[in-house]
Amino acid sequence: MNITIIGTGYVGLVTGACFAELGNAVTCLDINPEIIKNLKKSKVSFYEPDLEDLVKRNLDNQNLKFTTSYNIGCKNDIFFICVDTPDDGKGSPNLTSLNSSIKKLKQTIKRDAILVLKSTLPIGTNRLISNSMQKHFLPQKINIDVCSNPEFLKEGSAIKDFFYPDRIILGTPNNSSRAILADLYKSLKSRSNKLIHMSVESAELTKYASNAFLGTKISFINEIALIAEKTNANIHEVKEGMGSDQRIGSEFLNAGLGFGGSCFPKDMKALISFEKKNKIDNSIIENALLRNQNQVHLLLEKIYNYFGSSLRKKTIVVWGLSFKTNTDDTRDAVAIKLVKLLSHNVKALHVFDPKVKEESIISLKKYKNIRFLNSKYENFNSSNALIICTEWDDFFNPNIKQLHKLKDKVIFDGRNILDSKMMEKNNISYFGMGS
Ligand code: UGA
Repeated sequence: MNITIIGTGYVGLVTGACFAELGNAVTCLDINPEIIKNLKKSKVSFYEPDLEDLVKRNLDNQNLKFTTSYNIGCKNDIFFICVDTPDDGKGSPNLTSLNSSIKKLKQTIKRDAILVLKSTLPIGTNRLISNSMQKHFLPQKINIDVCSNPEFLKEGSAIKDFFYPDRIILGTPNNSSRAILADLYKSLKSRSNKLIHMSVESAELTKYASNAFLGTKISFINEIALIAEKTNANIHEVKEGMGSDQRIGSEFLNAGLGFGGSCFPKDMKALISFEKKNKIDNSIIENALLRNQNQVHLLLEKIYNYFGSSLRKKTIVVWGLSFKTNTDDTRDAVAIKLVKLLSHNVKALHVFDPKVKEESIISLKKYKNIRFLNSKYENFNSSNALIICTEWDDFFNPNIKQLHKLKDKVIFDGRNILDSKMMEKNNISYFGMGS
């Protein structure tokens, strides 16, 4: 099929490259000329495992094209809108990118088409866009079916998530768009057997509900972790016990610093805002979000209690800045929040992340006592303690000899990835979350 993807961020680029890999002719359109110039040379501006190879392969076989021009991009039959919808600062998504892409599509589309909204959008947006398209194109007798196909790609495993989805949600307004999209996804359906058809509003809400549920699940286990700490129970054992009940499952049941990234916090805020506007009791989602916002303070409290007033003289190493493993994304990352808060109370912070580059975090530049390390054990000799903020594989089995170089031999593990017994056996003080 001939597809245009509008927006080449995490969602758009992965979706475009994966559809191209399935044999479709895909044009990816972005208004940023720098991004498109780089993509034409298969250079991806963010880290996502295997994505650059996929882009290169499909550029070479000409299944994938990149453009900044709506005139070129609008020759296709199916349009996927994958533009960003960041938090507007008041808890609702900012729809500026969406509105401007819709405006440009109205000016350029010249024949019947299917418009698929992949961006996470307030419930009811699909219907509004559909109505405005109808009004605009009626005199030209052009029909645009507006469908909702929310994405469930996790950064760091997005390509795998695309090819082996747990489910594909298709919110369609009529049988013809339903059949065309089912056909587009048919090769994936046979891999996952989970193509679920529904109304556009149900599809929009399914996306929000899924993210809010997973965020709530994490906040739930983080609350249980507090009880575990008070009672000498071990959160790892509790997770295993709970997670082996198939109705609960062990995924997203890791206690720790909590969730960050560009999705869970933003989507939960958007749902809360919707609930408030519609006078719906929002106690579950709001408290799950509040619990999450408090996680960073719980770890800081452990650090303050351990060092007391001597903290001001300490140099501390921080491992991990990205909001989770396998990505260089630091949007709403708990690690960034932690280093900003902690930097005021210590002599120096030495930070290391396998993928995040110093120049990408402009907001840290003004913190003069934060220094980026080139390798994870650099400067251990002159540091006092270690804090782990992201669960990178590389941090799971640290070298004990290196850890012994830390002057105070203490670790604060915000992701619960180290074995507390092993640390204690090696005379290293260990503080996890819930154990
Ligand atoms: C999330 C969803 O998982 C995707 O399905 C969805 O498509 C995406 O949002 C989106 O809306 O675009 P993502 O934000 O990439 O994906 O990250 P997740 O893997 O879901 O992790 C979110 C946060 O939860 C991370 O900060 C992670 O460290 C934290 N987390 C995860 C925990 O604290 N504990 C866990 O057990 C699992």
